[in-house]
Amino acid sequence: MKRVPVHLVDHPLVHDALVALRDKRTAPEHFRRAATRISVLLAAEALRDIPTADLTVETPLGPAPGRRVGPDVVVVPVLRAGLGMLDAVLELVPGARVGHIGLQRDELTAVASQYYSKLPARLDSSYVLVIDPMLATGGSAVAALDLLEHAGATTVRIVCIVAAPEGVALVERHHPNVAVYTPVVDSRLNDHKYIVPGLGDFGDRLYGTV
Ligand code: PRP
Ligand code: URA
Repeated sequence: MKRVPVHLVDHPLVHDALVALRDKRTAPEHFRRAATRISVLLAAEALRDIPTADLTVETPLGPAPGRRVGPDVVVVPVLRAGLGMLDAVLELVPGARVGHIGLQRDELTAVASQYYSKLPARLDSSYVLVIDPMLATGGSAVAALDLLEHAGATTVRIVCIVAAPEGVALVERHHPNVAVYTPVVDSRLNDHKYIVPGLGDFGDRLYGTV
């Protein structure tokens, strides 16, 4: 099966926000704002080729041609860190339905286990956007994608903020049809399976639980 390439999102504003997220001095308040900023730009890119339907709209001065997003969009944040990207996506697609998948990496083994899942119906005809800021070993992403595949989703993209080569490779191996959108693929994982240089623990920094 042909692999979908990783989409590296190279907008200057994406990198500006990424620097704020990486900086260890960034407090949760500013971290959240930078997460929202970068997520708007990444999600816009991930939705760039979403099909649209032509229509005509009446302006006060007469008819104007337009396009409206066609398919049903479903956003799936991977809890808990993915929630930091959700408002941004809903700002872009206010009518999107939202599914939630709760996954937690074990602190010692870094193996993700599922503690929650609630997905909308009719995923087979939806355009599904998985949002999870960190793609490290890829275990969480693959678990989320397995769940979505099992629930019938066929058109799926994953948006992250920092990826590691190991995570990208695992997603490619298990879900070659799923496109990954990220600003950057960092160099490696450390012994604790954290991305280096990365930005630390995204969830802890987002919620101040460090
Ligand atoms: C983080 C992150 C991803 C996962 C990535 O979540 O948000 O879901 O780790 O790591 P992986 O690619 O090695 O699976 P974590 O399990 O720390 O939970 P949290 O979002 O609740 O903090
Ligand atoms: N989860 C994070 O929050 N950061 C990492 O570097 C890896 C997993």
